[in-house]
Amino acid sequence: MCGIVGYIGEEQAAPVLLEGLKRLEYRGYDSAGVAVYTGSGVQVVKSKGRLSVLEGILHEGEDLPGRVGIGHTRWATHGAPSDVNSHPQVSDGGLFAVVHNGIIENYLELKNHLKRRGVAFASDTDTEVVAQLLEYYYQGDVLDAIRQAIQRVEGSYALGVICAHCPEKVFAVRKDSPLIVGLGQGENFIASDVTAVLSHTRTICRLNDQEIAVLEQDGVRFYDRDLEPIEKTPEQVEWDVAAAEKSGYEHFMLKEIFEQPEALRKTISPRIRDGRVSLDGISLTREQIEGLSRVYIVACGTSYHVGAVAKYAFEKLLRLPIETDVASEFRYRDPVMDERSLVIIISQSGETADTLAALREAKRQGARTLAIVNVVGSTIANEADDVLYTWAGPEIAVASTKAYSTQLAVVYLIALYMAQELEALPPQELKASLKALEALPDQAEQCLSHKETIQYFASQYFNAKDIYFIGRNVDYAASLEASLKLKEISYIHSEAYTAGELKHGPISLIEEGTLVVAICTCRRLFDKMMSNIREVKARGAVVLGITTEDLRERLAQETDCQFCVPATLDFMLPSMSILPLQLFAYYAAGMKGCDIDKPRNLAKSVTVE
Ligand code: AGP
Repeated sequence: MCGIVGYIGEEQAAPVLLEGLKRLEYRGYDSAGVAVYTGSGVQVVKSKGRLSVLEGILHEGEDLPGRVGIGHTRWATHGAPSDVNSHPQVSDGGLFAVVHNGIIENYLELKNHLKRRGVAFASDTDTEVVAQLLEYYYQGDVLDAIRQAIQRVEGSYALGVICAHCPEKVFAVRKDSPLIVGLGQGENFIASDVTAVLSHTRTICRLNDQEIAVLEQDGVRFYDRDLEPIEKTPEQVEWDVAAAEKSGYEHFMLKEIFEQPEALRKTISPRIRDGRVSLDGISLTREQIEGLSRVYIVACGTSYHVGAVAKYAFEKLLRLPIETDVASEFRYRDPVMDERSLVIIISQSGETADTLAALREAKRQGARTLAIVNVVGSTIANEADDVLYTWAGPEIAVASTKAYSTQLAVVYLIALYMAQELEALPPQELKASLKALEALPDQAEQCLSHKETIQYFASQYFNAKDIYFIGRNVDYAASLEASLKLKEISYIHSEAYTAGELKHGPISLIEEGTLVVAICTCRRLFDKMMSNIREVKARGAVVLGITTEDLRERLAQETDCQFCVPATLDFMLPSMSILPLQLFAYYAAGMKGCDIDKPRNLAKSVTVE
């Protein structure tokens, strides 16, 4: 995934572009670059490495005079991170400069086609093909060149384009990758997401697939793929810039961990009214719910781990068969779906390529689709039949925390809504479940108040070579997420295992001093977990136990240290047990000196397959 920006207005463009790119660096940080229309044509400055390298070259933008420009921060997909593969990419004759987020899937075919016609290529990127195509089709009308180029390219793109022959315009077009237009006073912007423009304007338009925007200083015009003018309704962004800043925390991740109680409140409370679940924007009728034969839950990474919890919640409450899949596997296993299938798609960014592809496959097979998404207006949100937003606010840290918690809350709401519609729960049980759900934000707050205890645990174990997480039922689902959090930001090798499976192989990994984190909050399986803890202790493991207060005494007899979380309904327990383990991962990574918000090799949203 990459971040793109564009500017046209009264200010010098380069500093505005650099400021916007700073807000987008979480989308990718292999290289960065800007192109500005200076008095003598389009000038491009770009370099491998973080944005700070580019800022140093540009002296904060002073060395690139001009009021019109585009910029890019890259997460490499085609072509290794290098100066020449950095964006903006420029056409052979220097007419067009292009920044791109996405993947041109037929770029090699197009590249060979153009090379046979004498076009010289400089980079290994797919993006350069777009710049070359634009020049190839250009006959004096940039819009028409764009129209022809997007007819040829296949794949995903959010494009910012400037042309040496059109010094007073910035062009933008997208398909499958997000792109917004910021509308200012005497200035206009394009960006991959709103955080890049919030310090200038809160008025934005979201481009839909293959819509084209033409920005001039005093206004923006929109066209469809056939160059028919279209009207778009601006929206006001409520987020403060501060909401996208760190608000005093050292890292976005820590800020977002502690935002969870508030994010849970925002996600839960508007959807419980007079003792009933009221889901905004969901058109799933009682008849459709009654007619469901199977529910699929499909996602990637942390969002997939939400699906692992959802499986327990849905099967317990609805007695419906639930299948959970990682999105990158889902459509390649030829799933059997029809109009009686409900496919729940979970994605924080709403732009994950594998998850989007799974959504499209589900729709192709006639299944009903419901998306749980955090980014309003994202591609997955727009394409699903129904969408329920997690109102977690911008999640900037690559490691997802508040999105996970709010996605869980939405999953519980959906399960309880369907149980309510099917009258599958006695009224008292439904009431108790909603009460438990409404209590989660305060319980999360209480749980997070013990952060020093976790910080101490992390100080004891941050040098571990391997850390294993074990659990049963919902505790196993939580251990999947706990293990991913730890490994993705601290780089400590970690695995999650169903505790009952240890004796079938993984226990051979346990040796003197190996740290095992046993999540034992599920009361009815507690005794089984005690046996599993004894098994690993007998092989020399050090065991950190996570349980609820009422089980602490018994757990203390079998473990080296314990952390207690508030008790709640079984299927909601991961909302509690994950909290100390998010902090454990955070503190361990910090003590190891890792780049917590931007872990190596990762990006916030993986918009490539
Ligand atoms: C989670 O910490 C990771 N950043 C990653 O696994 C992420 O959850 C996954 O890429 C899915 O992203 P999405 O929710 O935006 O679709």
